[in-house]
Amino acid sequence: MTTDHPPVEDWAVDFDHTDERYAANPFPIWDEIRSSACPIARTERYGGAWLPTRHADVSAIAYDTDHFSSRSILMSAVRPPLEAAPMGIAPPISSDPPFHGGARRVLLPAFSPQAVGKLEASTRAYCDELIDAMRGREVVDAATDYAQNIPVRVIATMLGFPLGDDDRFREFVVEVIEGVDLPPEARMDSMGALYEYLRVQIEDHTAHPRDDLTSFLLNAEIDGEQLGFEHVGRTIALLLLAGIDTTWSAIGASLFHLASTPGDRERLVAEPELVPTAVEELLRAYAPVTMARLVTEDIDFNGCPMKAEDWVLLPFPAANRDPEFLADADEVVIDREVNRHSAFGLGIHRCAGSHLARMELRVALEAWLDAFPTFTLADAHGVRWSGGQVRGPRRLPIAIG
Ligand code: HEM
Repeated sequence: MTTDHPPVEDWAVDFDHTDERYAANPFPIWDEIRSSACPIARTERYGGAWLPTRHADVSAIAYDTDHFSSRSILMSAVRPPLEAAPMGIAPPISSDPPFHGGARRVLLPAFSPQAVGKLEASTRAYCDELIDAMRGREVVDAATDYAQNIPVRVIATMLGFPLGDDDRFREFVVEVIEGVDLPPEARMDSMGALYEYLRVQIEDHTAHPRDDLTSFLLNAEIDGEQLGFEHVGRTIALLLLAGIDTTWSAIGASLFHLASTPGDRERLVAEPELVPTAVEELLRAYAPVTMARLVTEDIDFNGCPMKAEDWVLLPFPAANRDPEFLADADEVVIDREVNRHSAFGLGIHRCAGSHLARMELRVALEAWLDAFPTFTLADAHGVRWSGGQVRGPRRLPIAIG
């Protein structure tokens, strides 16, 4: 399935985020680059790309939307055509200012704390349902039996899509986010299948409006004008892509940590009121999302001669573990009080779904800890992490006791 990716020999000048070692354990790689003479790595792969690892550099680039465009936020061999701007393939994440502002504002009411609060009871009921289906087994796969299902159900419910289509959503997500290596034709096919699916759903909502997020978007306006079919379709594609893989990864990584760190697990079972604080620390330490930017014009960035159309990867998880930014950055301190992490990004594109993600993560952990207070990792060698820009466990064998 992959194009040519020889194993990486020198991370400073030939990095590749799809390398198996990067997927399995990127932390020492980021540490090595960060503490070297040049904390911004380079690669000629993907037509040329850079990888900052210090919090200060990741932050400066994320805030500088003049020199670093979001025209594409998934790095692949192909750059989307310039005509894709200003909306881009998945507004608002793929839009630069000034288009970005309206495309983002229109979404925010649907993801406010009040709107998210209304989803908590049904999310908990669904977690309990998944848990009940696991009871009686010794070992379960916490990634496939549990984590991956929760965000799919939540977003499908919000959008008013058929709940039985869960498997299709997951396929779309994996193909689009993890399939960056696919040849352009195969990539177009998977995008085409996603947009065809969305076209049918949106047409159905146009004909039969209801009280859900899809109908809300179809009625929404920016500067007095409705969004239009294309904009709505692309935003919904973003919500599926941004909402599923990310949250599934965060839930899985948190369960991985607690299964392999009995002290932290026991503390959360004994002090459930600590879960919200622990959620922030787990988000920081296992931040799943790395985003990309395209350089808009030649620029010298902290001594790096960046060229127009070079990629820059923004590894928010590496920024979160920068010891210059935070003391004990490499340790998981489950009751860490001051925790200004960037798992949800930095700058104008900061995650619009963060309240929803936090609720899902907290509820998923609370329900799990309540049901399986003594769980442990069943087979450390059986754990598999996804490669690419969204990192989380895709296989997670856990003994539920
Ligand atoms: C733990 C789970 C999640 C993490 C770690 C996460 C992380 C991120 C990050 C790092 C960005 C910034 C992108 C950039 O700078 O290019 C982002 C943007 C975004 N996220 Fe999330 N996300 C999560 C869950 C969600 C959920 C559940 C939704 C909604 C269903 C969502 C919707 C969005 C949207 C719409 C944007 C684009 C905002 C903009 O461009 O203004 N995310 N997310």
